[in-house]
Amino acid sequence: MSQKQFIYWWQEQLRPIMVRVAVKVVVTIGVTAALLGIWGSNAPVSHAQVLFPTSVAVNTQLAMTTRRIQDKQTVLKGTAPSAIVYRSPECSCCGGWIDHLKTQGFEIKDFPTPDIEIVKQKYNVPDNLTSCHTAIVNGYVIEGHVPADDIKRLLQEKPNVLGLSVPQMPVGTPGMEIGNRKDPYTVFSFDPKSRVAVFNEYPS
Ligand code: CU
Ligand code: CU
Repeated sequence: MSQKQFIYWWQEQLRPIMVRVAVKVVVTIGVTAALLGIWGSNAPVSHAQVLFPTSVAVNTQLAMTTRRIQDKQTVLKGTAPSAIVYRSPECSCCGGWIDHLKTQGFEIKDFPTPDIEIVKQKYNVPDNLTSCHTAIVNGYVIEGHVPADDIKRLLQEKPNVLGLSVPQMPVGTPGMEIGNRKDPYTVFSFDPKSRVAVFNEYPS
């Protein structure tokens, strides 16, 4: 793990969880201690008096985290597919692709990310298939300006692949419109072993 990756992992994943757990633990210990009247008494504090509220706090936090994950899965299973989009903050064509997905009924969670390369590594996008943005839709990785119709077909057919990609940024893909120009392009699928196959071709 490089230093950059570590910092990303720490900021995005570990730190928020640790802060939440720490706050919960402190608050619960404080409340329970106050209720039990520990602070006012001269009696030595037993292990049980400290361990019990601590374990309650940790368990509550775990239960809440689990529920949050379940809620997210319910949303993902709903009729409107939701797309988590990682893109660099300066990218304007990414915005065009996001608008395209919205008009096709997708819910968008937009995450401008300074170092998009780390996201591509994390989701195992093959080097030769990379483009400007990386999205997660129902667990599938969508790299670049993939048309919504292909994503919908992917969600319906549920093939055993990691995701789809339109490498680079061909003119005429959703979000990359320049006048009426439409360059031919291919939608590829890729699997965990970076095996690549043709999923669709434009013009078809
Ligand atoms: Cu782009
Ligand atoms: Cu983009």
